[in-house]
Amino acid sequence: MNVLLTGGAGFIGSHLADRLLGDGHVVTCIDNFDPFYAVDSKKSNIQAHLSNPNYQLIEEDITNPDKILNRLKGAPDLILHLAAKAGVRPSISDPLAYAHTNVEGTISMLEIARKLHVRKFIFASSSSVYGSNPNIPWNETDLALSPISPYASAKIAAEFFGKTYCSLYSIDFTALRFFTVFGPRQRPDLAIHKFFSALLQDEPITVYGDGTTRRDYTYIDDIVNGIYGAIHKPLVPGQFKVYNLGNSGTVTLNELIAAIEKVVGKKFKIKTEPEQPGDVSCTYANISSAKKDLSFSPSTTLHQGLEAFYSWYKKNQGK
Ligand SMILES: NC(=O)c1ccc[n+]([C@@H]2O[C@H](COP(=O)([O-])OP(=O)(O)OC[C@H]3O[C@@H](n4cnc5c(N)ncnc54)[C@H](O)[C@@H]3O)[C@@H](O)[C@H]2O)c1
Repeated sequence: MNVLLTGGAGFIGSHLADRLLGDGHVVTCIDNFDPFYAVDSKKSNIQAHLSNPNYQLIEEDITNPDKILNRLKGAPDLILHLAAKAGVRPSISDPLAYAHTNVEGTISMLEIARKLHVRKFIFASSSSVYGSNPNIPWNETDLALSPISPYASAKIAAEFFGKTYCSLYSIDFTALRFFTVFGPRQRPDLAIHKFFSALLQDEPITVYGDGTTRRDYTYIDDIVNGIYGAIHKPLVPGQFKVYNLGNSGTVTLNELIAAIEKVVGKKFKIKTEPEQPGDVSCTYANISSAKKDLSFSPSTTLHQGLEAFYSWYKKNQGK
């Protein structure tokens, strides 16, 4: 299979590239090494890919489709679109940048799919689209999306552009709503990475709220398995599908803190602050559709995932 992967230097994209290349697929990665976090970390994520003859890196912005088209060697069989501005809180101070990259960038990739007659398109959406929807566990059939950040609104808009391209150009479009992904190479702005970093450097962490907010933490290998399920789902021209990819269980912030303390064998110093705008109080995935259609079956426990992160962190010192 010849795959066009955007965001392939990032956390999730680089794990996906590991797996695709390991399985002998041809991967063209598009990434602009956005400076949201250390560019060196992204370079190190793809270090092993660069020497693989099945791998091509196109360092380009997804909002420049013509430049990408000029550099592509032939049409891919599939587009896996993961590139995005990924932080929720920063989207509140810079909504236009999020709309540009996450909405216009997605349209650019859909235009590439249209021009090259790519029939299958898989998009990295987010649990944040549900926002303050109280009907947990969240179900894809619940259309009462209540985004509370520009990041979340941009993901919804991108899903809808996918739906439009299904109907106009018979593309098979799958949106995968990821629920807080963690594991080796996790982005440094996310809680687990920040907490390990602070604990090992003997610095305090900031807890927003009283520690009872809940998250559905999902291990990276389980997410990659879910994406694989979507890749292998039989192609249906014009079909639009949305799937939650979560662990389907929740962990409070206080439980997460205790679990990290157990893994490292050390207690946190904690500062508290009020809850932040844009943060939702609970994320919780109903994954029955993904189980049925994608054979999705997350199996990594929080403890196993934290151990794996810790051992990666110690080797890489958080790079
Ligand atoms: N990590 C999570 O918990 C999580 C949860 C829900 C959704 N997602 C989504 O999954 C995808 C991957 O997330 P991640 O955690 O790996 O983030 P990441 O920031 O590590 O990876 C995103 C990659 O996209 C690249 N990128 C950003 N803007 C670009 C542009 N204009 N052109 C080309 N490349 C660009 C970045 O350089 C980066 O390498 C994103 O779409 C994100 O919104 C992630």
